[in-house]
Amino acid sequence: MDKLKIDACFSPYLYPVYRDDESIVVIIDILRATSAICTALNHGAAAIIPVASVEAAMKLKQEGMLAGAERDAVKLDGFDFGNSPFHYMQDHIIGKEIALTTTNGTQAIEAAKEAHMVVIGSFLNIDALCKMLIEENRSVLLLCSGWKNKFNLEDALFAGAVTSKLTEMSEKYKEGDGCLALKYLFEIAEKDPYKFLNHSSHKERLAKLNLKEDIRYCLQTNTMDVIPVLKNGKLVKRNSEF
Ligand code: MLT
Repeated sequence: MDKLKIDACFSPYLYPVYRDDESIVVIIDILRATSAICTALNHGAAAIIPVASVEAAMKLKQEGMLAGAERDAVKLDGFDFGNSPFHYMQDHIIGKEIALTTTNGTQAIEAAKEAHMVVIGSFLNIDALCKMLIEENRSVLLLCSGWKNKFNLEDALFAGAVTSKLTEMSEKYKEGDGCLALKYLFEIAEKDPYKFLNHSSHKERLAKLNLKEDIRYCLQTNTMDVIPVLKNGKLVKRNSEF
């Protein structure tokens, strides 16, 4: 039997090269968009509506929706939230739809939106995600959001972690070279991912903004089993009725 493909795309800019609309695309923006999205749904938000532009997010806010907006890791004025997972643990988000635009994560979602299935990955939900990917029995593309279309280390690390888990759990996958490289990277990093990311660009950027707690939060593993999935332009909990 032919094996299922698993590969990693290092930035949304390269997505057209890797695009395969029959695959499940896992969107990865560990610091911090995909960690924040998982947190919001885990905390009871009904949906996250990812939008690429600040204008689109503001329009939804003016129509009465809660809205988050971040650029260059900073919350934008006039919005309810930025991109910190801690913003999405407040009780007033329960049952609400929230518009969200971020520098990289929501751009990656926009790029992949035509894929067979688009799901959100983070260290927070990694085991639930891998279990679901195996159940779905389809090829997988790990789409790293990177930083402004460039490679970044934390997204690559997570793609390596998923590759490592999936290929340990099942023999049905054949890794592309990108995934193989990231699996080896993860083997070097797995003992202490926080330390491994020292000197990485976005960790330094967030540390300068006093956001070290966000980094520690986002590097925790398996604190939740929600899997956000894109349905009709909204990220909702997989298996929810929304
Ligand atoms: C993004 O989506 O661009 C990043 O998560 C940036 C951030 O850490 O706020």
